[in-house]
Amino acid sequence: MERFQGLKAFVPEDTDVKSIMTFYRKLLPTDLNVYRDHLLRLSSQDRYARFCGFKTDESIAAYCRGIDWRFTIMVGCFVRGELRAVAELRTEPKVWPGEGELAVSVEREFQGQGIGSGVVRRIMTVARNRQLRRLMLICMISNRRMQAIVRKFLGTLECDSGEATGWIEMPWPNQLSLMQEALDNSAALVNGVLDQWQGRSEEMPVPSAA
Ligand SMILES: CC(C)(COP(=O)(O)OP(=O)(O)OC[C@H]1O[C@@H](n2cnc3c(N)ncnc32)[C@H](O)[C@@H]1OP(=O)(O)O)[C@@H](O)C(=O)NCCC(=O)NCCS
Repeated sequence: MERFQGLKAFVPEDTDVKSIMTFYRKLLPTDLNVYRDHLLRLSSQDRYARFCGFKTDESIAAYCRGIDWRFTIMVGCFVRGELRAVAELRTEPKVWPGEGELAVSVEREFQGQGIGSGVVRRIMTVARNRQLRRLMLICMISNRRMQAIVRKFLGTLECDSGEATGWIEMPWPNQLSLMQEALDNSAALVNGVLDQWQGRSEEMPVPSAA
C-alpha cells in the first residue's frame, strides 16, 4: 500500500485509490502488441466465444497484424496498467456505410464486474460521434452475458443456427455525446498519467469497474 501514499496526497480523502487504477482509453496502432497479448491471455473458451471459432496463437497474431487502423476503433480497459478488456469496432465505409461490427473481450478474472459494459458504453459514444447509425455483433446463443449487454444498450437480438446477432441502433451525435467523449478522453489522460506515476502493484485486489 505504501506506493499509494503519494497519490493519496492529491485526491480527496474519501476517494478509493484502487478505483483510480482502472481506466479506459482508445487504443492506438502503437498498442498492437498489447492488444495481441490481451487476446492471447483469453482462456480457450473465451477465445472461442470472442471469435466464434477456434483460434491458435499464430492466427491471433495474424489477426492483429491484419487490423486496418483506418477503419477500426478500439476502446480498452486497463487495470493496474495492464490491458484487460477491449471493445473492437470494425467499419467498412465503402461496403457498409454507417455500420460497424463490434466484438468484445474481457479476461476471465475481470469478467462479471461491469468492465465489458464499460468498454461497450464508451465505444458506442465514439461510434455515435463518428455518425455510425448501427452496430452489429455476433455471439454464440449460449453467451448470455454478451446478450445481456446488447439488451442493456437497447439493442435487439436475432437467433439463428447456434449464433445470435445483436443490432444496436445509434442516435445522431449531439452536444452531450460529444462532451461525453471529450470527458472520457480527459479522464483517460489523467488516469493514464496517474497510473504511470504510481507504478503497478500485483498485490492489490482487483478494483471494481467505473
Ligand atoms: C461477454 C463478455 C464481454 C462480458 O463482459 P463482462 O465484463 O463479464 O460483462 P459485464 O460484467 O459488463 O456485464 C454482464 C451482464 O451480463 C449479466 N449476466 C451475467 N451472467 C448472466 C447470465 N448467466 N445470464 C444472463 N445475464 C447474465 C450481468 O448481470 C450483466 O448485466 P447487468 O450489468 O445489466 O447486470 C465477457 O464475458 C467476455 O469477454 N467473454 C469472452 C468473449 C466473448 O464472449 N465476447 C463476445 C462475443 S464478441
